[in-house]
Amino acid sequence: MNTWLREAKPEDESFILEIRNAEDVRAWSKNQEVISEATHARWFESQLQDPKSLIWIIEDKIQPLGYIRSKETKDRTWQLSFALGYGARGQGYCNTAIQQACKLLIENQGAQCLLAEVISANSVVIHLLKKSGFVDKRKTQEVGFEIEQLELWAMCSEPRRV
Ligand SMILES: CC(C)(COP(=O)(O)OP(=O)(O)OC[C@H]1O[C@@H](n2cnc3c(N)ncnc32)[C@H](O)[C@@H]1OP(=O)(O)O)[C@@H](O)C(=O)NCCC(=O)NCCS
Repeated sequence: MNTWLREAKPEDESFILEIRNAEDVRAWSKNQEVISEATHARWFESQLQDPKSLIWIIEDKIQPLGYIRSKETKDRTWQLSFALGYGARGQGYCNTAIQQACKLLIENQGAQCLLAEVISANSVVIHLLKKSGFVDKRKTQEVGFEIEQLELWAMCSEPRRV
């Protein structure tokens, strides 16, 4: 798969907002409200300045396809989330991007544990995460949703076939 990650730059602000505000991206988020430009701009600037927050643009040879981001939520534990533009879906790009991001977090940031929180009904994302080696951690109830937490420990990060 000819895909790679590059660190997000200030110029990526509107591309990322467009994807964040896509109907299904909002629907699969705990906070489902549409994000205003001003709120996004503040958030994006703060993320770019935060060394414990990383945003990568998923690209093919020609164009940006989506993003994957990660935040260190406690020492050596990084939480991931991701989304693709509609035109880039269904071609396996995210599978590659998750595996690349996990490798970067483990090798460059010293991550020991990778986490993802997903609305339990989002079976595509749960499938993708498990394919990259994530396993179920626990289920919680938050703001009316059942949330599944999945984790991957660095020492057992070999992708598994699902
Ligand atoms: C989640 C998302 C990034 C998927 O990326 P993608 O690269 O298009 O994924 P693909 O369609 O290529 O692959 C999906 C996989 O799920 C499988 N799948 C499809 N429908 C499924 C279902 N209902 N249940 C389980 N698995 C399913 C596919 O067969 C494929 O598996 P495979 O790689 O083993 O063949 C994209 O749909 C998206 O941006 N969704 C909205 C945002 C979102 O939900 N983000 C998650 C927040 S953490």
